[in-house]
Amino acid sequence: MRFDRVAMPEVGRLALLLSLTSFLTVSVDSELTEHNKRLEWIVGKWRSEFSGKVFWPTVPTMTFGEELMVLEAPMAKSTNVQFLNFSARAWSHSTKDHFHDEWGFITVEPTGNATLMTAGNNGFTTYEVGQVEPNKMVLVLKDIGRISFSRDLPVEDLRRTFIKHDDTYMEQIIEMRTATHPAHGYLEHTRVIYTKQKM
Ligand SMILES: *[C@@H]1O[C@H](CO)[C@@H](O)[C@H](O)[C@H]1NC(C)=O
Ligand SMILES: *[C@@H]1O[C@H](CO)[C@@H](O)[C@H](O)[C@H]1NC(C)=O
Repeated sequence: MRFDRVAMPEVGRLALLLSLTSFLTVSVDSELTEHNKRLEWIVGKWRSEFSGKVFWPTVPTMTFGEELMVLEAPMAKSTNVQFLNFSARAWSHSTKDHFHDEWGFITVEPTGNATLMTAGNNGFTTYEVGQVEPNKMVLVLKDIGRISFSRDLPVEDLRRTFIKHDDTYMEQIIEMRTATHPAHGYLEHTRVIYTKQKM
């Protein structure tokens, strides 16, 4: 900064000082809490135009694009727990049809595990828990809700893995088990590699 070399009227200096002060206040307010700092690597906007692949025994393999955002969200004073907000919006690469959207919140507990809650317009709500490591997080389904008139089969288990490969690329893999496939364990359902976006 080279403000000292600019001849500035006193009022201008005061205005600058005030705006710097409010900037500092805002950034202190929005800092990640000690536990949520473990998620710093995933915070931001991530996008894949068409690297996503959907696999499932009962549907043709499809290519999709997705935009994922994990951002610091305002904290509810009543709970005093800092949640980051989470949004994932996907579209078909070939038809540009909208795939499903997920909105939610994620937070890291003092134990070091993260909890992600999502609501999707496929009719599901999920509650997922798992360990956060540097540049990697694996979440396992703890509870699920599903609208009674969903066209999708009941999901019995789900495992969601995020791996940050470097400052530019991050991958998300979703494995699951529905009422019909597979008999045990998980089957890979989607895989996508995002590029970090400027906000
Ligand atoms: C997440 O929080 C940020 C900051 O408050 C806000 O700008 C953004 O709209 C929120 N996103 C969602 C999906 O709620
Ligand atoms: C953290 O999550 C893992 C994976 O779901 C689980 O096995 C472990 O019990 C959890 N630890 C705590 C302290 O909740």
